[in-house]
Order: sequence, then C-alpha cells, then structure tokens
Amino acid sequence: MNPDGNKRLTAAVGVLLLAPVLVEIATVLFGVHTFMSWHVFVGLALIPLVVLKLATTGWRFVRYYTRSRAYVAEGPPQTVMRLLAPLFVVATVVLFGSGVAMGLLHGHALQIARQLHGPASVIWLLLLGLHVLVYLGRALRDTADDVLPADRPPVRGTTARRYALATAIVCGLVLGSSLVPAQHRWVNIRHDEHDRNEGQSAARNSPFSHAQSQRPQFSTTGNAIPIAAVWTRRIEPPCVTTRTRPVPGWCSAIRRSARSMRS
Ligand code: HEM
Ligand code: HEM
Repeated sequence: MNPDGNKRLTAAVGVLLLAPVLVEIATVLFGVHTFMSWHVFVGLALIPLVVLKLATTGWRFVRYYTRSRAYVAEGPPQTVMRLLAPLFVVATVVLFGSGVAMGLLHGHALQIARQLHGPASVIWLLLLGLHVLVYLGRALRDTADDVLPADRPPVRGTTARRYALATAIVCGLVLGSSLVPAQHRWVNIRHDEHDRNEGQSAARNSPFSHAQSQRPQFSTTGNAIPIAAVWTRRIEPPCVTTRTRPVPGWCSAIRRSARSMRS
C-alpha cells in the first residue's frame, strides 16, 4: 500500500470510529451496569475497526523502520504523537482485551481483568482525546477527499480501501450480534461475583462448615485460632498416646510404693 493510501485509510477508520466510541462513552456516563448490553455490543462491534486502525498504523511503522523509500520520505508522525503512540496502542489492547476477557474468565483471572479495565479506560480516553484534537481536522479532510469529488488527484486503491472499511464494519456488526446470546456472561458479571462471594461466606458461617465445627473443641474462648488447632490435631503423630506401657516388674513396683506410703 502506498503511503498516501495508507494515510487515507488510517484517517477514514478514525472517522468511522468516532460515533461508536461516543456511544461507548455514553454508556459509561449513563451507568455502565444499566447499559451493559449496549456497552458490550458496541465494544465488540468496535474491535474489527480498531484492529484495522492498528494494522494500517502498524504497517506504516514497519515500512518506515524497514527503510521503505516512500515511507521514509513521508517522515514519522509528530514527535509527541510518536512518543505517545506505543502507550496508546498498549492501552487499546489492554482495554479491549480486558473487556473481552471479562466474558471468558472466572475467579482470580476475572478479578485481574476487572481491575485492569477501569484504569485502562481512563488512560485510553485521555490519549484518545489528545489524538482526536490533533488529528480530527486532517482525518476529515483526507476522508472527504476519498469520498467526495475532490480537487486533489485521487489516490490509488480507493476501491480496496472501501472494501476494507466495509469488511471491518460488517465483521463488527456480526461479532456484536453473534455474541448477543452470550452477553449474560458480561451483563451478570457483578451479580455472579456477588453470589459467589455470598456463597463462600455462607459456607464459612454454616454450622456444618469444617472450620466452624472444630472451633468449640479446641479453644477456651471459642475464638482462639481454630484453624491452627485443627492442623495441630491433624499432624499429631500416631505414636503419641496416653496409654501406660507395660514395663517388666511394674506390678511389684506399685506394690512396693503402696507399702512404703502406708508405713
Ligand atoms: C481506537 C482508537 C484509535 C487508535 C488505537 C488509534 C491509533 C493510531 C496510531 C497508533 C496512529 C499512528 C501514530 C500517530 O500518528 O500518532 C494513528 C494515527 C492517526 N490517527 Fe488514530 N487511532 C484511534 C482513533 C482515531 C480517531 C477517532 C481518529 C479521527 C479523528 C484518528 C485519526 C488518526 C490520524 C489522522 C492519524 C495520522 C495518520 C497518518 O498521518 O498516517 N484516530 N492512530
Ligand atoms: C471503548 C472501549 C471501552 C471503554 C472506554 C470502556 C469503559 C468502561 C468503564 C469506564 C467501565 C467501568 C469500570 C469500573 O466500574 O471499574 C467499564 C466496565 C465494563 N466494561 Fe468496558 N469499556 C470499553 C470496552 C469494553 C468491551 C469491548 C467490553 C466487552 C466486550 C467491555 C465490558 C465491560 C464490562 C463487563 C464492565 C463491567 C466491569 C465490572 O463490573 O467490574 N468494555 N467499561
């Protein structure tokens, strides 16, 4: 792909991302748990466009650093944007990766994904805000040149770019819609975790729970480290016993000491 075509495709994907990203932000502002179905649907539908954006910018990156003459002549992005680009890419991958992962994982891994998603979204939104401030004008101009009858000469590959954009949009809609039946995995995440935690604390407090059933036997106060007592009893060696061992001559020894006590 020539650098001008790459630039136009990058710009057009950016323009197409704007509306769904705003909807995604709106679902958060109006209450992400109330609008979780929308949050998940739009989030999933965004993925192919985001992948296409990372592919076009990644292509430019690779071509520039492998010294392709046309891309080197085009030059790198502005210094600040160039420095922030790796962080933006990482934040994007963590945000979308953790979002998708929350529907697939359980237990500790799910907790990690939940803890990553919120902070990643804050970093991502700050970087996106700057990105849009810097690039919106150029993105709209480049996209208009590709779509409307333009003054500037056309750039080779218009049809291929349209196919790429249409494919990303259709794939996004298919991904979002096909996972609607599985949306409960994301939508119920809070309740599922809550129920699991409730279940665990109920089991701990149940009169039949292991730790609770051991408590009165091993502590005088009822609170003295019952788990330690349980483990002490478990690891006690089987040879420890209170039974008196028969020693040769033990009967006569007892009789002798009884006699001496009486006299
Ligand atoms: C998921 C959201 C987005 C990601 C992950 C993303 C990522 C990137 C990256 C990594 C670059 C290359 C580094 C740079 O030039 O700073 C870039 C360039 C660019 N982006 Fe985005 N971007 C996103 C959204 C947008 C949006 C919403 C717009 C539209 C306003 C946009 C317009 C542009 C433009 C015009 C360029 C420069 C293209 C060039 O000169 O080759 N991007 N983007
Ligand atoms: C533009 C992309 C996205 C943004 C800006 C975003 C932002 C957010 C924010 C701010 C929250 C609230 C976090 C918290 O309460 O700690 C959230 C929650 C959530 N998001 Fe996203 N998100 C995005 C993409 C996704 C995707 C792609 C998915 C899944 C397909 C997803 C699934 C979820 C889920 C399940 C929660 C609830 C997490 C919890 O209860 O701990 N998000 N999102």
